[in-house]
Amino acid sequence: MKLALHGASGRMGLAITRLVQQTEGVEIVGAATSPSDPLLGRDLGELAGLGALGVVTSPDVASSLLGAEVVIDFSTASAVTQLVQLATRRGIAIVCGTSNLDAAAQRALDKAAEVVPVLATGNMSFGVQVLAEVVEHAVRRLGLAYDVEIVELHHRKKIDAPSGTATRLVQAVKNVRPELRELRGRDGEVGKRTLDEVGVFGVRGGDVIGDHTVYLLGDGERLELTHRASNRDLFAHGALRAAQFLAGKKPGRYAIADVMG
Ligand SMILES: NC(=O)c1ccc[n+]([C@@H]2O[C@H](COP(=O)([O-])OP(=O)(O)OC[C@H]3O[C@@H](n4cnc5c(N)ncnc54)[C@H](OP(=O)(O)O)[C@@H]3O)[C@@H](O)[C@H]2O)c1
Repeated sequence: MKLALHGASGRMGLAITRLVQQTEGVEIVGAATSPSDPLLGRDLGELAGLGALGVVTSPDVASSLLGAEVVIDFSTASAVTQLVQLATRRGIAIVCGTSNLDAAAQRALDKAAEVVPVLATGNMSFGVQVLAEVVEHAVRRLGLAYDVEIVELHHRKKIDAPSGTATRLVQAVKNVRPELRELRGRDGEVGKRTLDEVGVFGVRGGDVIGDHTVYLLGDGERLELTHRASNRDLFAHGALRAAQFLAGKKPGRYAIADVMG
C-alpha cells in the first residue's frame, strides 16, 4: 500500500512513520506539512529517528499525494478541506484523524465519500470504540435518572478543546438520549443542573496523552467509565489499520467499528 501523510512532521505523523517501518507491505510516498513548519524540507525518516527514507516534508500537498493510494491526515482543522478536495480529485482513500473539524471539512468529507472510501474519526483507538459501545449500553440501561458528564485530560500542548474523543463520546450518549444538549464547561451562577444537559470538561497539563472518563451519576451511586491512552502508538496503529482496510474498498463513509470487524 502506498501511503501519503498529511501533517507528516507532527507528533502523530512521526508515530505513523515509525510504525510503517515495522509493517510489511506499506510504503510512505509523500509527506505534506504546513508552509510555516520549521521541519520543512527534512527527510521524514530522519525526523522520526529512523535514518533517511528518501521522503522529504513538503508544503505542496498535491505533489505529496502523487502515487498514493491512501492518505492519512493528522494535521489541523483548517487544513483538512483542501486536502480532502485534492485527494478526492485523485481518487485517493482518506483516513482523517484531525479533531474539531468545521462544517466545511465535514461537508468535504461527505462529498469525498461519494467518490472514494473515507474514514474520519476523532479517535482511532479500538479501546475507545469499545468504550463508546459500553457508554451507549450503560446510558440505555440506567435511563433518565442518571446524569451524564464527560471529563477529558490532555497534555499542555493540545491546541483545541474538547477533544475529538470527548465529542465522539457525547455522540454515543446522544445516540441513546438525543434530547440531551452538550454543555461545554460551567462558569458563574449557572443554576441547578438541568435534566437535558451533558457536561463536557477539558483539563490540560503535563504530557498526558489522553484520558477520558464518562460519569453516570445517580442517587446513591455513580459509574465511572474510563479510557487512558499511555502512548500515541495506539492511535497510529488504528490509523494504519484503517488505511489498510480502506485500500481497494468502495466509496463511502467507514468507521473504526468496520475496521475492527
Ligand atoms: N483521531 C485520533 O485518534 C487522534 C489522536 C491524536 C491526535 N489527534 C488529532 O490529530 C491532530 C494532530 O495531532 P498531533 O498531536 O500530531 O499535532 P501536531 O504535533 O501539532 O501535528 C500537526 C501537524 O500538522 C501540520 N500542519 C499544520 N497545517 C498544515 C497544513 N496546512 N498542511 C499540512 N500540515 C499542516 C503542523 O505543522 P505546524 O506545526 O507547522 O503547524 C504539524 O506538523 C489534532 O487535531 C489532534 O487532536 C487525533
